[in-house]
Amino acid sequence: MAEPQVLSPVSCVPVITIDGPGGAGKGTISRLLARRLGYAWLESGALYRALALAASRQRVALDDVVGLSDLAGWLDVRFTTDVHDRAHILLAGQEVTDTLRAEACGDAASRLAAIPAVRTALLSRQRGFRRPPGLVAEGRDMGSVVFPDARLKIFLTASLKERARRRYKQLLDQGIGANLNDLLNELAGRDERDAARSVAPLRPSEDAVIIDSTGLGIDEVLARVLRLADDV
Ligand code: DC
Repeated sequence: MAEPQVLSPVSCVPVITIDGPGGAGKGTISRLLARRLGYAWLESGALYRALALAASRQRVALDDVVGLSDLAGWLDVRFTTDVHDRAHILLAGQEVTDTLRAEACGDAASRLAAIPAVRTALLSRQRGFRRPPGLVAEGRDMGSVVFPDARLKIFLTASLKERARRRYKQLLDQGIGANLNDLLNELAGRDERDAARSVAPLRPSEDAVIIDSTGLGIDEVLARVLRLADDV
């Protein structure tokens, strides 16, 4: 007979995961959701981006599997929020929030994210964000790999054109120059790489609710997710 399962306190902490391709609005929706529920928030893509930036600064090549997994193990990255509730990311104590948003950083992150040893090195760090009263985690494999026991799993997507347009606006709002066509091509390339990799590929897990946010505003998507969160 199977042993009765004893749940450790951390596995009782509810997790809501929001996965999907770049530019689908995961960052905005997950941050608002976390705020509404009073939960912690994990933007896992920022970890991969921070690793890409650290690798470039320390001249670790994107195909140096050992160097990258080592770096992932002791990466000094911290997430904070200021009095206006804006998120800040610090790498080795230095603010890198805007630097991480650049497409070059996202592209490098997508390349090193395909290395299984890198993903393994970042796994426990991501799980460490799970704390009471709950966690909203966003990324590519939050529901499928990192938090398979999540209470609610959302796969948020939108058409490539709309995602490129949103990214474009987001970058311009942050004062970062961008070209819409280049963004569209970069996002398409990144989608393809993220979906084709052998480990934790970008695809909805079987128990995920798929939301296509093409043509929907932030409020509509958030309301839909909140309704789903209420129902589980
Ligand atoms: O969400 P983002 O654009 O910041 O993510 C940057 C890259 O990091 C993305 O192209 C793939 C990778 N990534 C991943 O493989 N797994 C995650 N959970 C989050 C991001």
